[in-house]
Amino acid sequence: MAYSEATVLAGGLVHIPILIGLVGFFKKFHRTITRGPGKAGLAGKESPQPPEQPSPPPKVVKKPAHPNVPVNTYKPKAPFEGTVTENYSLLKDGAIGRVNHITFDLSTGDPQLRYVEGQSIGIIPAGQDAKGKPHKIRLYSIASTKYGDDFNENTVSLCVRQLQYEKDGEIIDGVCSTFLCDIKPGDKVKITGPVGKEMLLPDDEDANVIMLATGTGIAPMRAYLRKMFEPKEREKNNWNFKGNAWLFMGAPKTANLLYDADFEHYKSKFPENFRYTKAISREQQNTKGGRMYIQDRVLEYADEIFTLIENPKTHIYLCGLKGMEPGIDEAMSSAAASKGIVWSELRPQLKKAGRWHVETY
Ligand code: FAD
Ligand code: A2P
Repeated sequence: MAYSEATVLAGGLVHIPILIGLVGFFKKFHRTITRGPGKAGLAGKESPQPPEQPSPPPKVVKKPAHPNVPVNTYKPKAPFEGTVTENYSLLKDGAIGRVNHITFDLSTGDPQLRYVEGQSIGIIPAGQDAKGKPHKIRLYSIASTKYGDDFNENTVSLCVRQLQYEKDGEIIDGVCSTFLCDIKPGDKVKITGPVGKEMLLPDDEDANVIMLATGTGIAPMRAYLRKMFEPKEREKNNWNFKGNAWLFMGAPKTANLLYDADFEHYKSKFPENFRYTKAISREQQNTKGGRMYIQDRVLEYADEIFTLIENPKTHIYLCGLKGMEPGIDEAMSSAAASKGIVWSELRPQLKKAGRWHVETY
């Protein structure tokens, strides 16, 4: 006998209430055998069961998106022309190389380039490359707070090491870093940005901030420490920092320590809130007799560092040489292991929670 489609459909629909009833019966039966009869069940009447709760979604600690942080106000195709106001050496006699503090006036920008602590700007060096094309942008971490070194909210400062290396017996100067170290007050420089949300400070006034810097990696940390401890800054920013800040600074020689006098001053004024630990690679030795690097200091203070990390308000910032990352990872691994923690598991969690911040180059 041939059935029409409509008959099949109608026949199927007729069975739906029967199916629902059966499913209901088996569900009730299943509940009774897995949970046993309810109180009322024992008295002969089943009490209404609470509706089945869906299992809660897994807890994901989301990284804040920082929607109010400015980005790319000036793009490479239409950069802002900033005017150099200062350019001076940060090094003492006997230091290795060349590292300068350079400040640009931003006040003529329309719109004005504004930034927050932890961001970077791009610099387009004057001149052309070997192919006759304009030079590419290089990024530099901002070393000033958003209020600027003079607190007038219209300057940005950088901390730049001149790149120099030897190739085939010849000394090669880095294009942009040499351009920056050589510019003079009054010179115009093409600036882009700001960029970056990786190195932003938390809003919490009682956050703990562990900073691991090598060389010019100190730039964002200098901005954080000014924001935390510079009296005029505190007046302006209304951010009454009362957590623990701990700076681990790596430099080849004492004469190469950057902003050292400022940091020593903060330490004397805020001994409860600021610790400053130096690793001076060519003057100090680690326990194995090698150069003292910041990762050796991390190992030395492993216990205290991991006690701080257990606090969810603790953030760790890493900035400077890319080459230091494996060493820091290794040090954190053995430091963690001594506390029964697996660093390779903890680090991604810290990262996900927005507490592990890395900017190396
Ligand atoms: P270039 O002329 O571009 O030369 C660099 C190139 O030279 C390299 O790409 C490589 O090909 C070659 N080279 C380099 N060393 C050697 C070597 N030993 N042997 C052979 N070849 C070599 N720098 C700072 O000084 N301060 C900062 O605050 C800072 N912040 C940064 C933030 C970010 C997010 C990034 C990504 C980088 C930052 N830098 C900072 C680095 C900066 O962007 C430049 O890379 C650096 O100044 C070198 O640029 P340059 O134009 O002088 O060198
Ligand atoms: P060194 O050059 O003595 O080996 P700067 O940028 O002023 O040269 O400072 C960078 C600092 O970082 C120096 O003390 C340098 O030591 C140190 N450094 C070099 N390589 C590493 C590394 N892999 N891990 C940690 N620190 C490093």
